[in-house]
Amino acid sequence: MVRQGSAKPLFAGSIPAQASKNYLLVNTGMKSEEILKKYLNYYISKGHKQIPNVSLVPEGDSTLLFVNSGMFPLVPYLSGEPHPLGKRLVNVQRSLRFEDIEDVGNTNRHTIAFHMLGNWSLGDYFKKEQLLWIYEFLIEGLKLDPNKLFATVFAGDEYAPKDEESAEIIKEVMKKYGIDASEGVRIFPCGRKDNWWQRGESIGELGGPDSEIFYYVGEGSYEGKSPSENQDEFLEIGNSVFMQYRKIDGGWEPLSQRNVDFGGGLERLALVTQGRKDIFETDNFWPLIDRIQKISGRDYHESSEVKRSMRILADHMRASVMLAMDGVLPGNKDQGYILRRIIRRMIKIGRNIGVEKNIPSMLIDETVSILSWLYPSLKDKETGIINIFSTEEEKFFKVLSLGIKESEKIISKLNDKDFNDPDKLADLSFNLFQSLGYPPDIFLEDMKNKGKYIDSRGFNKAVDSKFKKHQELSRSGSEMKFKGGLMDQSERTVKYHTATHILQRGLINILGNHICQLGSNITNERLRYDFPNPAKLTDQQIKELENYFNDIVIRKIPVNFIIMPKRKAQEIGAMYLKNESYPDEVKVYYIGDSIEKAVSKEFCGGPHVQNTSELGGIEIYKQEKIGDGKMRIYARFK
Ligand code: SER
Repeated sequence: MVRQGSAKPLFAGSIPAQASKNYLLVNTGMKSEEILKKYLNYYISKGHKQIPNVSLVPEGDSTLLFVNSGMFPLVPYLSGEPHPLGKRLVNVQRSLRFEDIEDVGNTNRHTIAFHMLGNWSLGDYFKKEQLLWIYEFLIEGLKLDPNKLFATVFAGDEYAPKDEESAEIIKEVMKKYGIDASEGVRIFPCGRKDNWWQRGESIGELGGPDSEIFYYVGEGSYEGKSPSENQDEFLEIGNSVFMQYRKIDGGWEPLSQRNVDFGGGLERLALVTQGRKDIFETDNFWPLIDRIQKISGRDYHESSEVKRSMRILADHMRASVMLAMDGVLPGNKDQGYILRRIIRRMIKIGRNIGVEKNIPSMLIDETVSILSWLYPSLKDKETGIINIFSTEEEKFFKVLSLGIKESEKIISKLNDKDFNDPDKLADLSFNLFQSLGYPPDIFLEDMKNKGKYIDSRGFNKAVDSKFKKHQELSRSGSEMKFKGGLMDQSERTVKYHTATHILQRGLINILGNHICQLGSNITNERLRYDFPNPAKLTDQQIKELENYFNDIVIRKIPVNFIIMPKRKAQEIGAMYLKNESYPDEVKVYYIGDSIEKAVSKEFCGGPHVQNTSELGGIEIYKQEKIGDGKMRIYARFK
């Protein structure tokens, strides 16, 4: 496609002439970098300390697949553990919500990867300060139009009362800006489904009423409209959760401390601050979309299919680069499987807009430049990431070439009646996908290339329903993972956590200083620990390790923590995870009467038992070699 006229610059990219009528070029607003800086500075000025933006892959003892909000690393502290940096925390956290994948492309707002701005009060300030500050930040800091800000609050039910207090505070705050924020006009009480936040359904989950902040992004007038009834016209830009309850059997009990957990999407704040109607037209995505336009010769605004394809490509590119940055490699399990799926999906989608090959590698430069203001070291990883993507693409092409033969074989056996039977075709296609990873849209293309008329709509519908069924199964799998994750801080998992520290020390004593934690995972039934070693443990070494552990239990040693500067903690030999970023002040758990005489000291958030006598005897009941020079042991209490 030939473009005419000169395109005006928008961020790093440019707008195709045909599409420029869709843009309001006068308002390009603040860049995301500035939004973030303002947010952090604002909360730092209110006494908050910044905590690190940690890896998307949850550290250590979690079975959660991805970090999906800023509050994740904070669960123990929201429950009452003291945080080394105090009671007021702020950060930006990269997050991934794979469950949103179906929406990506179809809306102006959904992405699987995003950044969450977060501030927390750990039993310190509460509703009054939080609601005043966040509205002040949005209106005075980001210069958002107060007339377009709307709020929801919890309407109350049998477990917790209506949040009158938040409604009253918001009303007062808005009065400051000359806005009458009456209930039913600007503040809307909603039920548990909308205005209660909790991570999962298990006993012990923390939760509480929340107050969501919406911005009007529609075209017409907002008079008389409510966010819940006009979802496309409003965009949720932030949520203040008043986390003050813990789930018990049959209800909720008040926590010992009342917390604030605020989360706001950086990319969504960019959308409203930059005066856009589409998240993909902000500085976080547009340069990437523009590059896709150039390499495909297509126009983002040309049709809803093209727009959808470009949005998916831009979102999945950012997500894959962030995953690769965090050390994930395409594979068949867990995070690796998700990365593989999204890379392969990009390759397929690239074909929809006429780019046959190399789409991930062609988009890497723009992706890195969009993200490197936040992740400067990403530039050094670029070559490595290109290699990962190219290798995966080659593998996928092999799948495709095998699949093409198989597909031809299947098609040659079909008769005219079969070609008129979308369900049967969808079955065949689904099996082909399951066995060889051959995508249904390519199978459909193959049939059409044979000159057959296929009811594409019927075929896609039947395929979709098979995939949905399949996805529901795998989704419930990942939710299980999620629920079994960090939240599961039963007495038993706390014991296994302390046991992991002791076993690590035992392994160092027996095998040497090369021992470090490559991975760890805890359930109610057992612990798992991965470490580098040339060989599996001998029977003799297993015995020694168990004896070492049991001796520590018999010696009734106290377990304590101390908060100290990171440098000092490293100097005194506290163990830490090499790939993790830690704040300047860290919490060090030690097993011993004093830190000097401790048998074990590790950077760790806790919680732990108070004395080793609370643990029972342990047995190493299984071991595995999980890679070259990488071993895994499983241990459980006897
Ligand atoms: N935890 C809340 C959320 O994820 C607010 O941070 O929306």
